[in-house]
Amino acid sequence: MGAVSDTAAKTGFRVWLNKRLPVDEFVDSQLIGYFAPKNLNIWYFFGALALLVFIIQIFSGIFLTMHYKPSELEAFDSVEYIMREVEFGWLIRYMHSTGASFFFIVVYLHMFRAMIYGSYRAPRELLWILGMLLYLALMAEAFLGYVLPWGNMSYWGAQVIVNLFGTIPVIGPGVVEWIRGDYGIADSTLNRFFALHVIALPFAIAFLVLMHLVALRQTGSNNPDGIEIKEKLGANGNPIDGIPFHPYYTVKDTVGVGVFLVFFCGVIFFAPTVGGLFIEKPNFEPANALSTPEHIAPVWYFTAFFAMLRAVPDQQLGALLTLLAIVVLFFLPWLDRSPVKSIRYKGILSKIALTLFVIAFVVLSYLGLQPVNDLYVILARIFTAVYFAFFLLMPWYTRIEQYKPAPERVTYHA
Ligand code: HEM
Repeated sequence: MGAVSDTAAKTGFRVWLNKRLPVDEFVDSQLIGYFAPKNLNIWYFFGALALLVFIIQIFSGIFLTMHYKPSELEAFDSVEYIMREVEFGWLIRYMHSTGASFFFIVVYLHMFRAMIYGSYRAPRELLWILGMLLYLALMAEAFLGYVLPWGNMSYWGAQVIVNLFGTIPVIGPGVVEWIRGDYGIADSTLNRFFALHVIALPFAIAFLVLMHLVALRQTGSNNPDGIEIKEKLGANGNPIDGIPFHPYYTVKDTVGVGVFLVFFCGVIFFAPTVGGLFIEKPNFEPANALSTPEHIAPVWYFTAFFAMLRAVPDQQLGALLTLLAIVVLFFLPWLDRSPVKSIRYKGILSKIALTLFVIAFVVLSYLGLQPVNDLYVILARIFTAVYFAFFLLMPWYTRIEQYKPAPERVTYHA
């Protein structure tokens, strides 16, 4: 453990640097001195991977910004220029567009992990809320970014989403005009979306990630058994079920990074649009106010909510319901009343409820991608009800079901 702080191992430069910047002290106290549960499994890769994707997005975004032009007349052509003329421009753009979808894949798996192991429960409620704020910020960031290429789906997608604000009673129409900065989606809209996408939201996300990690460091990681390792300390004051984050988890996380990069590069080099799923077909045509795409749908990561929106005939009610579908997630820490945290020890009702919730989310995501028809609207209503039932019935089913007592010590399978 003393490897880093071992003065004998330090070279002249390291001594010079540490007198001026407490690098080793930071590594010692925050990474080596931080004890993480020894039973963390591959579900725990996704936080580090979310960080990796964020870095990829910032890096590729900087290079895109060097060639992109945020103007109604030039935006679409500047993206085509990046794809065809800029050296490796296609790679930078596909890194960014693929990164957006992978961000959501990774974050959805990260959130699901928190749901199976009850990581949102006390004392990690604030960590969960900070995560939810990150999720909202990511949604806003992805939406704004999607408008920038000024393709036909960018234009009409912006039209649909911005108009949703028009459903706010009394002030709605004024808010819509204020967001657009014009009477329609126009040059001024594109300009402000660009400013928010490249400056405001990345800063907000970076700040929230920092807060998320500080909150995590304070409570420590939960684990697949959902028990608190800080409650059992050894003679040296460290948790007996913990191991130093560095080198154990820094090394383990590189496996996750390797596997992630195989998939990420696979998409970039072999199927960058994933058949219209990651970049929709109408977005290869320039924005046209006179021609609506045959079927307007957001990118896959929003389609579950889009299906809910379409399932309600009244637009105002639909918008409210969709908002509630996201807001309800914030309350998860207080809806779960089970005496145990992890799904491993919860009863059959929690297991069935979580399975149905996942099915509902996947089916709604599929339905949101399809053109509307009567059957799909009915299915969307049924699965929206299942989605909400998971949350609203949670205080009841988590309390009445038979659970298994959680073990005293973490269960560790070598
Ligand atoms: C930019 C997005 C995000 C980044 C970079 C990020 C980063 C991380 C990291 C590095 C960890 C520790 C490693 C791990 O447990 O996987 C973590 C833990 C956690 N995150 Fe996130 N996160 C993000 C979004 C979210 C979201 C959207 C939620 C939920 C709404 C969330 C909830 C949690 C929770 C509850 C934990 C503790 C899990 C446990 O200890 O079992 N995070 N996050």
